[in-house]
Amino acid sequence: MKKKQASGSTPNQKAGTVERFSSTGFILAAIGSSVGLGNMWKFPYVTGKHGGAAFFLLFIVCLIVVGLPVLLAEMTIGRGGRGNAAVSFYKLTGKKYWSWLGLVSVITAFLIMSYYSVVAGWTLHYTVESFTGLLFRSGTDFKSKFELFASGYMPLFWQAVVMLVSGWILARGVSGGIEKFNKILIPGFLIILLVLMFRSLTLPGAAAGVEFFLKPDFSKLDAESALIAMGHAFFSLSLGMGCMLTYGSYVEKSQSLGKATLAIGFGDLVYALIAGLIIFPTVFSFGLEPGEGVGLAFMALPVAFSQMPFGAFFGGLFFLLLAIAALTSAISILEVPIAYAIHKWKWSRPRAALYVTVVCFLVGIPSALSVGGVLSSFVIGGKSIFDLVDFVTAYILMPLGGLIVALFTGYAWKRAGEEAGLSGFWYKAWMFLLRVTSPIIIVLIFLYSVGIIKL
Ligand code: PHE
Repeated sequence: MKKKQASGSTPNQKAGTVERFSSTGFILAAIGSSVGLGNMWKFPYVTGKHGGAAFFLLFIVCLIVVGLPVLLAEMTIGRGGRGNAAVSFYKLTGKKYWSWLGLVSVITAFLIMSYYSVVAGWTLHYTVESFTGLLFRSGTDFKSKFELFASGYMPLFWQAVVMLVSGWILARGVSGGIEKFNKILIPGFLIILLVLMFRSLTLPGAAAGVEFFLKPDFSKLDAESALIAMGHAFFSLSLGMGCMLTYGSYVEKSQSLGKATLAIGFGDLVYALIAGLIIFPTVFSFGLEPGEGVGLAFMALPVAFSQMPFGAFFGGLFFLLLAIAALTSAISILEVPIAYAIHKWKWSRPRAALYVTVVCFLVGIPSALSVGGVLSSFVIGGKSIFDLVDFVTAYILMPLGGLIVALFTGYAWKRAGEEAGLSGFWYKAWMFLLRVTSPIIIVLIFLYSVGIIKL
């Protein structure tokens, strides 16, 4: 309560008003950001393909070696500079070119939101369709059903809903919006997660899925698995696009960023583990393919829901889980350009939220209409607009943003250790990881993703 008063945030933030998270509010919001669609469909898919638990172990190593040091660096820059993803770099060094580099993150976040909101919209549509039972009427060809849905204009409607809800929450401010809604959504999310885990673990034949997920097959690990695990650790912790930096700028000085880093990393990991324990037993119990890719959630799993008792209910819960995960991430992504706009154009928060949300929605329309819709035949370099925006942001701009953060903290900003509260061994280890390990690994991921190195 005391903290809340100190933060002084009200729903109607004026430009320049100090906005702060409470300490638990910050941890919840950061976990909400990291736990997202990526963990739920990308993680099980890549884990399935790369040796189950062996890949999971590799993912843990990557999280520790690359993810956590960059996560701490982002939050430290944000709190040290007390500014958005572009201006913090400038405030800490007085050098203009760093803020230009930081601007890359703001643009990346804006672009990611434009298509992330499309997928988040699909999850909302499927939540409604599943709870109402509409999804399970007229046959079980869920592939065609998804294609029919994606080829129409409904995805635009749902994308608009996601945008409006996220924009509305952000217009209410840091403590009255972001923090408040994460405090409501995350506990609800946890309950659904546990209900679904219990459901999937008690399905007939669930043990085969658990075994697949938890029994390591090291023969399937190769250099490619390592790069994928690293790339995923990065995406999963919401790094390289100013999200954690912007959230970091709202953290009180008294909060330990080191502990926050561990809590966020742990939260993300536990969630990835539970996501696997929901997906694999269900997949195995109904004889589906573990490596189904993005079709897993919308085409394969509905088959399982259509056959289990109370399937419409459990299916609805599953899509609701995805929708909450997507919404808490979407809020954090959209906050990056909104925080930038508030500072840059001196707009009030509600005005910045309105303008940024509307423009982002307009920019996202081509993505929404390019997955089987009217724009799907418009292909650039073999990729639809949706795939292209995804590829450019996730594989080019995010690694670039992460590299900028690592180099800035490792070489340009001399007082990072003080702000992060690290000294002695931990400071040296952190610096080594930021100066040497992370840049090398990020560059490798980048070169591999764009096809310059082949494994
Ligand atoms: N971490 C989120 C996920 O796993 C995605 C995300 C990326 C969110 C970047 C914010 C910023 O889906």
